[in-house]
Amino acid sequence: MRRQEQPTEPYRIKSVEPIRLLSRPEREEKIVAANYNIFKIDAEDIYIDLLTDSGTAAMSNRQWAALMMGDESYAGARSFRRFEKTVREITGKKWVVPCHQGRVAENLVFSTLLEKGQFVPNNTHFDTTRGNCLHKGGVPIDLPCRESESNEPAPFKGNMNTEKLAAFIEEKGANQIAMVIVTVTNNSAGGQAVSMANIREVSEICRGHHLLFYFDCARFAENAYFIKRDEPGYSGKSIEEIVAEMFSYVDGAMMSAKKDGLANIGGFVALNDEDVYRRLAELLILIEGFPTYGGLAGRDLDVLAVGLQEVMDFDYLDFRIEQVAYLGRRIKEAGMPIVEPTGGHAVFIDAGRLLEHIPPEQFPGVGLVTEFYVEGGIRAVEIGSLMFGSTDPESGKFIPAPRELVRMAVPRRVYTNSHLDYIAEAASRIVARKDDIKGYEIARESEFLRHFTCDMRIRQSEPVNMDS
Ligand code: F0G
Repeated sequence: MRRQEQPTEPYRIKSVEPIRLLSRPEREEKIVAANYNIFKIDAEDIYIDLLTDSGTAAMSNRQWAALMMGDESYAGARSFRRFEKTVREITGKKWVVPCHQGRVAENLVFSTLLEKGQFVPNNTHFDTTRGNCLHKGGVPIDLPCRESESNEPAPFKGNMNTEKLAAFIEEKGANQIAMVIVTVTNNSAGGQAVSMANIREVSEICRGHHLLFYFDCARFAENAYFIKRDEPGYSGKSIEEIVAEMFSYVDGAMMSAKKDGLANIGGFVALNDEDVYRRLAELLILIEGFPTYGGLAGRDLDVLAVGLQEVMDFDYLDFRIEQVAYLGRRIKEAGMPIVEPTGGHAVFIDAGRLLEHIPPEQFPGVGLVTEFYVEGGIRAVEIGSLMFGSTDPESGKFIPAPRELVRMAVPRRVYTNSHLDYIAEAASRIVARKDDIKGYEIARESEFLRHFTCDMRIRQSEPVNMDS
């Protein structure tokens, strides 16, 4: 494996998309007009967009060629057969339900396999997984391992706490639990990997209690790379072998293929149980489309069939994970504390620790996101008290998120290392004037998922109390 300072791209560029950096006064104007909500800035006014790694990948020449082979037949298209074959090979599951993105896979699975009031333990639910579980009357439970909360670098901080899982099943009784989910990699815990040993242990616990075990496998290939690199006994195995072993432990999987599908849209559910497959397919017809296209065009299915194979290429993964780690190293060198180790798809900056003069109720993450845009036209996203904090309805007390983070998700095969150097340079200029960064307050918010739509304003300093 390459370990030089800058990883080298295992591809060259054949098609380019211009990006434009607005002037600083223009950027200042845009962020004010957006009421300091980065979601409200048009993409064309962003220079480097690290909002998400979802649906933002660049396609390969093979994928563009596959797109032309798309069979747009309503039923039984060749495109679906190619997609189905690839998903079967990767997951080892017989039945494949296509859908247009991950949250539909979640909706289908929870609508079919969850009874009202049942619990769903997960290492950590992603927001839409949690939302869909709640919407179907379930109770999502997060059981991340202990290391996930520490600042110490350790491999596999995405693991599930299996002791807690076993105790939870004992306490509630297996019939109160709809299924156990492991999210690979664990996005909400910083894109951290889950070890094979942990997956195996969760599977043994589930088998022992006749409980269903599913993956949320949006970043399965990135997870397999970490197992190969960091878990004893796996360095000699191929990514394909590791992926096959991972999926051998689960009954089924839901995937947002907008990540490790290397595609701009797509998802699926894969499973072996024919009876459950029939129920999923019936619901699919109602909400997405016929079971051989599931809300996707034939050409999307062909693009996915190729992308799902390409993503397991070792050289691609080695570059991908190293590129994200490189961005993490550079940002840390610039003086910003980050969550370590860096995850597979993103660098998480600890805005709470960087901006100690801004308390959680004044959203240090929003301050940092604003600065990245003003400084460099860079779009990152707050993952802190704006996204996850709340106000106690009775006491009116502010309940902060566990940490005030800012996520920089790296789209796949999109940005070069010089883009990443540019981000690090902006970071060091921000660090130099960090004490001048102000706190923010919410001017207007919606009831659900407020971070997407709320308006923010710079917090006015407290009036000086003349009596004291
Ligand atoms: N599961 C995980 C682990 C995810 O990260 C996401 C999406 C989903 C499910 C939902 O998939 O968006 O295709 O419906 N994560 C994106 C992100 C949005 O930015 O982390 P979707």
